[in-house]
Order: sequence, then C-alpha cells, then structure tokens
Amino acid sequence: MEKKIEQLRQEAAQAIKNVAGTLTDLNDVRVKYLGKKGELTALLRGLGQLNADDRPRVGQIVNEARQQLEQLIAEKNQELKSKEMDARLANERIDVTLPGRQTNHGHIHPLTLTLMEIKDIFMRMGFSVEEGPEIETDYFNFEALNLPKDHPARDMQDSFYITEDILMRSQTSPVQARTMQAHEPNSPIRMIAPGRVYRRDDYDATHSPMFTQVEGMVIDKDISFADLKGTLEDFLRQIFSKDVKVRLRPSFFPFTEPSTEVDISCVMCKCQGCRVCKGTGWLEILGAGMIHPNVLKMSGYDPAKVRGFAFGLGIERITMLKYGIDDLRLFYDNDTRLLDQF
Ligand code: DAH
Repeated sequence: MEKKIEQLRQEAAQAIKNVAGTLTDLNDVRVKYLGKKGELTALLRGLGQLNADDRPRVGQIVNEARQQLEQLIAEKNQELKSKEMDARLANERIDVTLPGRQTNHGHIHPLTLTLMEIKDIFMRMGFSVEEGPEIETDYFNFEALNLPKDHPARDMQDSFYITEDILMRSQTSPVQARTMQAHEPNSPIRMIAPGRVYRRDDYDATHSPMFTQVEGMVIDKDISFADLKGTLEDFLRQIFSKDVKVRLRPSFFPFTEPSTEVDISCVMCKCQGCRVCKGTGWLEILGAGMIHPNVLKMSGYDPAKVRGFAFGLGIERITMLKYGIDDLRLFYDNDTRLLDQF
C-alpha cells in the first residue's frame, strides 16, 4: 500500500511539473489524481479495508501526499498565470512612440467670417437680422422697390427667371419691403438682411452668377442723410480700420432718392493709387440712399410721417479687400489650401 502511494505521488508530481500549456491542462491533472474519482482519492477511500493498526499510519501518508500535490498544483497555477500575463503584456504592448492619428479641423469659411463680423457690428448698433427667400416674386424683387415692369433700370440686374413672376432674387433689397409689410405701418425698423443673390453673369475673377449681399434699412421719424453717413462711416471703420476714409458720390438706384455710392480709401495703398484701386486711391464698397417715398408707400408706410435710409453691400468684395484675395472663385472652389488659412 505504501509503495503504491509513493508511486502515485511521484507520478502525479511529475505530471504536474510537466504541464506546460494552460490552466485547463493543469486542472485535468488535478482531477486525474485528486478529483472525486481521482486515483489518490480512490486510495483514501480504500483505507477502510485496512486493519485498524495500519489505518492511521497509512492514512497519514496518503494525506501528506495529497497536501504535497496540492501545494505543487498551487505553485504551478501561479507559474502558469504569470506566464499568461507576461504573454499578454508582450502581445498587447502599445508603441507610444508612434505618431498619433491626424485629426483635420474644419475652418470657418472667410465669407462666413466676414458676415459674422458684419452682424456683430450692426447688432451692437441695435439692428435686427432679417431673412428673405432666395426664390422671390417679381413683385418683391422689383415692383415693390419702385421698379415697375419695363423700367429700364431692371437691366442693371440681368436675372434668372423661373416663371413670368418668379425669379432667383437678384438682390437682397426685397427684404426691405418684406420687413416693412411684416411691421405695423410707420413703426421704426433697424435691420440688416444677409443672403445669397443671383444674376446672369460670367464666372471669372470678379464675377459670379451667385454671390452674397447684406441689405440694411433704418426707418424712423427723423432719419436724415447724416444718419446714413454716420452709420456707414462707423461700420466701415470697424470692418476695415479706424483710419479708413469714406467718400460719398452721387449715384442712382430706383429705390432710393437721393442715392449714393460709398467709397473707402484704398486699403492696399492708403490712397496712393495701385493695381487694386486702379490708380484712383479709392474703392467702391456699397450703394445707399434715402428710401424713396414710393417704396415706403407701397409697403404701407407714410413718407409724410417717417423716413429712412437703406444700403446694400457685397460680402465677397469686402472679404477680398480684407484678406487680399484677388480671385472671387476661390470662395466657391472648396480648396483647402485657401480655407485652412482661416
Ligand atoms: N440692391 C443694390 C444692388 O444690388 C444695392 C443697394 C443699393 C441696396 C442702394 C440698397 C441701396 O439698399 O439703398 O446693386
């Protein structure tokens, strides 16, 4: 009996030592010798058949063998676990010296940037921001602005008609009439209206069939030409620079009387004369004027009670001058070499 135990003990110890694979392999060995139906367990059960004199001694031997094997299994278990961990660490190692993944940041489009600035300046002066549709009726785009059908000034804006009476708006000025008609007659208004406009134009460095304008309109009891001049000077100095000079030239627009073209001293050459200002020292920047009495009347306002001024400017032109961009098409090309600079 003792021999048998010693033999089993040695055999099991060797088997445990030989386990090289996984924890499951180790468990298989444990079950084989120490499990419920294990070989050593069987011996333990057989103790009952020994005579009473031998029982305690042999029992002790079996138990010692058992304890020893359990100890060996525990040690092996530890060894396998730490091997597994080492393997995982080696496998899942992160190379912290690799360059990180590039994330591409979006940029605010230069036209949006200018529009944000324009809105900011006028909102600080108490203007609201209004909107109008890009598909507009002939009535709002022309008639309500004192441009009856067959008026020759319609030729100034060759437009895209969809039907006889509906077109892609050629200017943001229709928002003037829309805003008045949305208000109580003769109530004061101070608004700007930014948006896209469409004209039948070539596509070259200075023209595009689609571009962006900002309309402005102020109506109140005692609005004068001096208010127009002061407001626009203030605006132009904020958007360009505080030492920019402003010049008004008489002009014609059907919806204003008197009308003016507003120039600023050339931002490139400071009035010396250069390629950008074509040697004149001045840059044409926007159109403006006192709102024509007919325009007020047509939208329910009484020119005997209130007066106002209006203006319209092109965002592309202002952006080109601000950032020294010399080709309008760059705004619409989505070329990241330009856009990444903003
Ligand atoms: N709508 C004009 C255009 O597109 C610009 C303009 C001029 C707007 C004078 C105005 C204004 O409100 O008073 O050419």
